[in-house]
Amino acid sequence: MPFPIESVRSSYPALDDGYAYLDGAAGTQTPQPVIDAISAAYRTGIGNVGGAFPASDRSGAIVAACRAAVADLVGGHPDGVLLGPNMTTMTYRLARAVAGPGDEVVVSRLDHDSNVRPWTQTGATVRWAEVDPVTGELPVEQYADLIGPRTRLVAVTAASNVLGTRPDVAAIAELAHRAGALMYVDGVHATPHGPVDMRALGADFYATSAYKWSGPHIGAVVADPALLETLRPDKLAPSPDTVPERFETGTAAFADLAGVTAAVDHLAAMVPGMVPGTGTRRERLLASMAAAEQHELALFAVLIEGLETMAHVTVYGKPARRTATAYFNVAGHTPRQVAEHLAGLGVNVWNGHNYAWELAGALGIRDSGGAVRAGLVHYNDRSDVDRLLDGVARLG
Ligand SMILES: Cc1ncc(COP(=O)(O)O)c(C=O)c1O
Repeated sequence: MPFPIESVRSSYPALDDGYAYLDGAAGTQTPQPVIDAISAAYRTGIGNVGGAFPASDRSGAIVAACRAAVADLVGGHPDGVLLGPNMTTMTYRLARAVAGPGDEVVVSRLDHDSNVRPWTQTGATVRWAEVDPVTGELPVEQYADLIGPRTRLVAVTAASNVLGTRPDVAAIAELAHRAGALMYVDGVHATPHGPVDMRALGADFYATSAYKWSGPHIGAVVADPALLETLRPDKLAPSPDTVPERFETGTAAFADLAGVTAAVDHLAAMVPGMVPGTGTRRERLLASMAAAEQHELALFAVLIEGLETMAHVTVYGKPARRTATAYFNVAGHTPRQVAEHLAGLGVNVWNGHNYAWELAGALGIRDSGGAVRAGLVHYNDRSDVDRLLDGVARLG
C-alpha cells in the first residue's frame, strides 16, 4: 500500500502556501488536529493543576494524556515522561541532577550541542567520541576505551541533525551499562523519522521535542520512573516532590500539551487501514512511522543521488544508516547564498552549523558558514525534491 501522501499533506494547512518545506529538521509544520486541540483547550477553559474546580481538573487530564501519548511514541512508561519547554532546557536540568565533579561523562562530536554542553558544564571529566569526517559515522569501537569505572553517563544522539547518521546506540549502551553508566539518548532528530523503541536502544533517558514531529514547541525526556526516584533535581520548596513532577519546574503550557497528544494521535493515524481504534496506539504508531520512514527514504534516494551527481556540489557524510537529511555545499556560493537562492524559488532549506557545533568543526566548515541542510519528513513529496534539485542545478 503506497504512503497516502496526498491525504497526509492536506492535513497541514501551512503547506498550501506553495513552498517546498525541506526545513523540517529545524521544526515541522502543524496539522489541523493539533491546531484544533490547542484552541479547544483554551476555548473550553483550563486552570492551573491541583485546584478544586473542573477547569483545573481538565488541565490535570491534559497532562496525564500527554504523558501517555509521549510514552506510546517512544516505548516508555507514562510515569517517566518529563515535560518542559524544550529539550535543551530539560537536558541542562537533568545534567545537574545526574553528573558532577568526580564523575566522567562521554559526549560525541556527532551530537547537537544540546547533548554536549549541558554535560561538559557539569564539572565532570569529559571524554570525547570522534566522528569519521568522511563517512559521517560514529565508530562504536572507540567507546570501549572511553567508558571506564568512573563513567557516570554516556550522551549520544540517535540521529545527527545534519548528516542524518544513525549511530549504533544499542551497542554503545551495552558498553555503558556493562560499566554501570547511564545512557542519555538525544532522540530529537530521530523521533520524526521512524519507529522508536527506547528500551531496544538501551536509553536510560530518551529526549525528544514535539515541534520536530508536528506538535507544538514542547520538549520531553522519558526515563524509567524507578531511575528518576533516585535523582534529586533542583526544585522550589513548595512544588511537588513526586516523580515525574519534581523534574518539571514552573507552570506547564497546558494547551500546548493537548497539542502534543493530538500530534501523537495524528502520527498514529497516517497509515492506510490503521484507523484510530484498530490496534493499540503504540502498534499504530510503529506501523505508521515505519511507513513514513519508507516514504522518506525512497524520496531521499532521489534527492541524494541528484546532489551527488552534480559536479559543483559537495555532500558531507555517507553513513550506512541515516535519516533523510542531506548536508552539502555548492562551489562558488556561501551556504547562506544557496539558501537565499532556493528561498527565491520557493524552497525552504537551512544554512549554517545548525548547532552541530563540534561536527561542523570536525568537518572543517564551522568558520566558513557551515553548509546547506535539506531534510525530508513524511509530508514532503517528489515535487519538493525536484524543486530542490532544479534550484541547486541552476547554480552550476
Ligand atoms: C538533534 C537535536 N537535538 C537537540 C535539539 C534541541 O532541541 P530543543 O530545540 O527542543 O532544545 C535539536 C534542535 O534542533 C536537534 O536537532
